[in-house]
Amino acid sequence: MAATPTREDKFSFGLWTIGYNGSDPFGGPTRPPLDVVEAVTRLSELGAYGLTFHDDDLFAFGSTDAERQKQIDRLKAALADTGLIVPMITTNLFSAPVFKDGGFTSNDRAVRRFALRKVLRNIDLAAELGAKTFVMWGGREGAEYDAAKDIRGALERYREAVNLLGDYVTDKGYDIRFAIEPKPNEPRGDILLPTVGHALAFITTLERPELVGVNPEVGHEQMAGLNYAAGIAQALYQGKLFHIDLNGQRGIKYDQDLVFGHGDLANAFALVDLLENGGPDGGQTYDGPRHFDFKPSRTEDISGVWDAVAANMRTYLLLKERAASFRADPEVQEALAASRVFEIKDPTLASGETYDDLLADRASYEDFNSDAYFGGKGCGFVRLNQLALEHLLGAR
Ligand code: GCO
Ligand code: MN
Ligand code: MN
Repeated sequence: MAATPTREDKFSFGLWTIGYNGSDPFGGPTRPPLDVVEAVTRLSELGAYGLTFHDDDLFAFGSTDAERQKQIDRLKAALADTGLIVPMITTNLFSAPVFKDGGFTSNDRAVRRFALRKVLRNIDLAAELGAKTFVMWGGREGAEYDAAKDIRGALERYREAVNLLGDYVTDKGYDIRFAIEPKPNEPRGDILLPTVGHALAFITTLERPELVGVNPEVGHEQMAGLNYAAGIAQALYQGKLFHIDLNGQRGIKYDQDLVFGHGDLANAFALVDLLENGGPDGGQTYDGPRHFDFKPSRTEDISGVWDAVAANMRTYLLLKERAASFRADPEVQEALAASRVFEIKDPTLASGETYDDLLADRASYEDFNSDAYFGGKGCGFVRLNQLALEHLLGAR
């Protein structure tokens, strides 16, 4: 069983994830800061292929140009030494006091202009480092009070910002696409573009929709009680899965950022099956980075941080192996067919059939026996799910 990660697996980690020092609203750090060079070195040894970061993770907010450049140079040297890459970059528009009411959608126009400048500068850095994806997580874009934010106005400003960024990368000839990361709440009481669905709808309003997709996070959808794998399937269907944030979440509560699989394991299995094998009969898959956005628990010391890094990748690979065994099982294939899972691919109308033809088709209505569905014609979905569970548990 190949549960040892290699670069071909495209595993990446945020610098803020492994660098999380344990602070939460109730207590300060439980671990010392992690240097970026050590982060790159350890990730490389453990089999990851990429590091991602916010500008402020690498050089503190308010750094001088010299301090900023020094950190960029140190990162570049570590990348050159290890062969690790930076597949994605993102901008911190949420930590500094200036962003307390958001960046792109702060009510304060001067803050919005400052936010845009911060992002444009960071896009230049993304291009310089060869990052292909630019994530936008609007943690502070939102409100606690309905009267405090004109949502339509905020959407208009968000749209203005993303349109400007699209013009910028196009004019500069940068090979960069944007990925909006939805989240329902935390840190704001309510965040703009709270779910994958909201983000997908918003993207259709943009001037360059082809440049913008989504970066859904497991825990964020689950905080809203939604089915993550189903949301990813829709993002894939719409050609909008530009990036992905994998982690674990146990139900509707604060954003836990647990190790991938340490939350809803059954949904994690469905997700890996979808990403790796496409639909039930194959098809669309995702070939971008498998990015982990987790927080090593506050209870762990630095060796626990690296154990958690390894655990994310190993869990993904174990699920990939379990999903392959599920697909290869003849009984599963038979159960899928018995449940008519493949039949969803058949168009409901025959080729060229019109509504007049349908209306004339007595078999579809007048002669159709809908009574047969009472007490008969069971779907067999429970059996199918049990087969999935048994593969997940290693019982088959
Ligand atoms: C969170 C978010 C962030 C973003 C990050 C990159 O809930 O804190 O998931 O970790 O992913 O800001 O955009
Ligand atoms: Mn999160
Ligand atoms: Mn995230």
